[in-house]
Amino acid sequence: MTPVIVRTREELAAARSQVEGTLALVPTMGALHEGHLSLMRQARRSAGTVAVSIFVNPLQFGPGEDFDRYPRTFPTDIEACAAEGVDLVFAPSREVMYPDEPQVTVQSGPMGEVVEGAARPGHFDGMLTVVLKLLNLVRPDVAIFGEKDAQQLAMIRRMVADLNVPVRVDGGPTVREPDGLALSSRNRYLSVPERRTGLALSRALRAGADAAAEGPDAVTAAARTVLDKAETADPPLALDYLVLVDPATFAPVAGPGQAVLAVAARVGATHLIDNVHLQLGKEH
Ligand code: PAF
Repeated sequence: MTPVIVRTREELAAARSQVEGTLALVPTMGALHEGHLSLMRQARRSAGTVAVSIFVNPLQFGPGEDFDRYPRTFPTDIEACAAEGVDLVFAPSREVMYPDEPQVTVQSGPMGEVVEGAARPGHFDGMLTVVLKLLNLVRPDVAIFGEKDAQQLAMIRRMVADLNVPVRVDGGPTVREPDGLALSSRNRYLSVPERRTGLALSRALRAGADAAAEGPDAVTAAARTVLDKAETADPPLALDYLVLVDPATFAPVAGPGQAVLAVAARVGATHLIDNVHLQLGKEH
């Protein structure tokens, strides 16, 4: 069944007031793929009503990033939501979300300036601002975000804790192609040769994960070996970062214990990110 599609705050408020029981929200920027669909299924298991938001948020794109060319595939997104039994889609325009130039925005703080935040200055401020607005507008009981954007998920958890936002935040596992490539709306930018080079990210993470028992140096060395090779491939991979960090704070870790090995690189004009959770052995 086609979901109820609402575009304005008034329509959303009216639809929200009809919801009985619990509501789960899956915030997205559209261009939905199997990763989003698995979050919708998780939402269905978590609450009686499932809402999806579709909004390409200008605030989280930096100058020169892909805001203008970000894929916008609304009709097929709605078909996908219908196939997953989504009840409500909130698809606001820019004017609905930002009727005035925003003066007060969320500051992501020091954690928003490291790793992905260092590669994309201002990105996490813009992302947290729109997520807080969506949470305030939709008022879900649970909000579900993909673990592929590990730092985004950690920052949202931190915002919800620091600002006492009354919502439960759940992460959903990364969905991969059979050859390991993490699903992303940006994968559709990749040519066949670029996609082949981009596979180095998941291969590097797997090599790092296989070395986890040996400790942090072995993890980064194993991952680096794969990435070094990809840096000289045709087309080449341009590494932005490879880091081993605490899953909650994104501060560097020297083991042993829980860690996230996170990588980002550009292949052609496409920014790709991926990560894996590890249990590190041995002291540094
Ligand atoms: O992960 C995304 O698609 C976006 O960053 C989000 C969480 C929908 C905010 O715009």
